[in-house]
Amino acid sequence: MRVVQVGTGKMSVFTMRYVRERGGEIVGAYVRRSAVGKDISELIGCEKTGVIIEKREDMDASLKRLKPDIAIVTTRSLIKELYEDLEVLARNHVNVVTICEEAFYPWDSNPIYAKKIDELAKKYGVTITGSGYQDVSWGSMVTALCATSASIKKIHGISSYNIEDYGLATASMHGSGLTMKEFEKEILEVNNVSEEKMKELISEANFLPGYMFPVNGWIASALELHPTKITQSAEATTHSTDLYSDTLKKTIPAGDATGLKTTVTTETEEGIVIVTECIGKVFAADEIDVNEWIIEGEPNMRFVMEKPATAEMTCACAVNRLPDIIAAEPGFVTTDKMPNLKFVRTFK
Ligand SMILES: NC(=O)c1ccc[n+]([C@@H]2O[C@H](COP(=O)([O-])OP(=O)(O)OC[C@H]3O[C@@H](n4cnc5c(N)ncnc54)[C@H](OP(=O)(O)O)[C@@H]3O)[C@@H](O)[C@H]2O)c1
Repeated sequence: MRVVQVGTGKMSVFTMRYVRERGGEIVGAYVRRSAVGKDISELIGCEKTGVIIEKREDMDASLKRLKPDIAIVTTRSLIKELYEDLEVLARNHVNVVTICEEAFYPWDSNPIYAKKIDELAKKYGVTITGSGYQDVSWGSMVTALCATSASIKKIHGISSYNIEDYGLATASMHGSGLTMKEFEKEILEVNNVSEEKMKELISEANFLPGYMFPVNGWIASALELHPTKITQSAEATTHSTDLYSDTLKKTIPAGDATGLKTTVTTETEEGIVIVTECIGKVFAADEIDVNEWIIEGEPNMRFVMEKPATAEMTCACAVNRLPDIIAAEPGFVTTDKMPNLKFVRTFK
């Protein structure tokens, strides 16, 4: 399998290594500016490969030369921000997996761009798919738990992760390090919106979904539920003492924003409510990642995944998805329409 990497930040270090461990070949890598000219071995920590990271502007010409099967895109969190790169990749007949959070199920938060990307993929006969941590831990693991229910009233997910495990893109999406006043303006004004405002923003392709917003839609689709109302609320997380952030390279004073908590509630025609609470913040020394799911119904159930290694799991999921994506029909195909994710030891 010939793979190119788009975006050479923190996650790419794992994705490129996992591809090589499965017998795949990283044949090219592209970035905006930060690692241009470096051999990818400098990121992965392996022997020299001769694959030199190129500028994103040179990707079109490079893809024509390299003819890869698939690209791993680890750049941004919104599908609108991905469109330009996806256009270049599709035009060169390259399939795509992205860990862009919104791409997991973009049909509710940005149907305009989801449709544009679907049409783009169909035009060039490629498959574009969002995967990552959510594919199992917020996706098939939850629906598997639901499959053990006799009846369900509510599906409630609570997930927290440490901003320090990710790059600057993630930290800025969460408003980490902002004063409360800055947070109010830069994060809450766009994340904490009324139902009416949300509809207006969605109709202009300007809505900013929290990381778990797409998860509600994915679960509803996988369980064949029909959403009637979706709301999102947001608030800052803070800490009682100063916290140093290595990602931000600064100390966040006590009381300033360490990150963001968003709550998304989906009501469905079938009467089942889906609630997800997503907490991404700079952790204090005693805090750990948690992924918790509570299913209310007959019977009541609670599943807690303690200390999930979200960065490794994200990248393993994306890489284990590559064969499914290559085999899938063309279009923007979300993973609720694919087989449940399997561990792939080697690419065939
Ligand atoms: N789905 C999941 O489970 C999951 C998990 C982790 C992360 N993510 C998401 O994945 C993305 C990457 O995460 P990360 O931790 O690797 O971030 P990161 O360390 O900030 O790296 C992002 C990389 O993308 C590059 N980039 C940004 N825009 C680009 C563009 N238009 N074309 C080409 N390269 C571009 C950046 O280049 P420059 O440095 O030159 O700007 C940088 O190399 C983030 O949006 C994050 O939220 C998703």
